[in-house]
Amino acid sequence: MRTWQEIEEACKSCRQCRLCENRHHVVFGVGQPKARVMFIGEGPGEQEDLQGEPFVGRAGQLLDKMLFAVDLDRRKNIYITNIVKCRPPHNRDPQEDEQNCCIGYLREQTRLIRPRIIVTLGRIAGMKLIKPDLRITREHGSIIERKGILMMPMLHPAALLRNQSQMEGAFRDFLILREKIKEVCPETYEN
Ligand code: URA
Repeated sequence: MRTWQEIEEACKSCRQCRLCENRHHVVFGVGQPKARVMFIGEGPGEQEDLQGEPFVGRAGQLLDKMLFAVDLDRRKNIYITNIVKCRPPHNRDPQEDEQNCCIGYLREQTRLIRPRIIVTLGRIAGMKLIKPDLRITREHGSIIERKGILMMPMLHPAALLRNQSQMEGAFRDFLILREKIKEVCPETYEN
């Protein structure tokens, strides 16, 4: 098993797929490597590629607000990363082969973090990590257990910006998440 630093170094010099060609930064992740709760999106967008941190564009600002509302903070008590670590051109969906090239890094990150809860953000991450036939509009906010980890699909904050009518439902998911955290990993909220 590689150390966190070894994985990060390998990821940051990765050239396993075409997404390496136009990247400015590899976006490895942000947060507490000891977090009990992990958020996983699909892949970096323009701002993330420029800044080297996940969810720092408009969608990320909305995500931060929703996190703040339930006392979660990317710098304190969670870890945030993506399925693919390099930006797909023009923010297209990451292709299956790109996801498969990259997912080993996510698996290694998850093995070291050992989260109790994984929240997937959006359809792509939910389909890849929870089930291929996930119906995100219907199933967001539900929780299933997989190998001792609770998996919860959520709507993608960029989708919420496009369709504000889903905001209330999305916020309800965060409230469900807060209750689940208090139940299974209350240390998330300690100090
Ligand atoms: N969308 C994602 O899925 N991930 C990011 O890091 C930014 C936007």
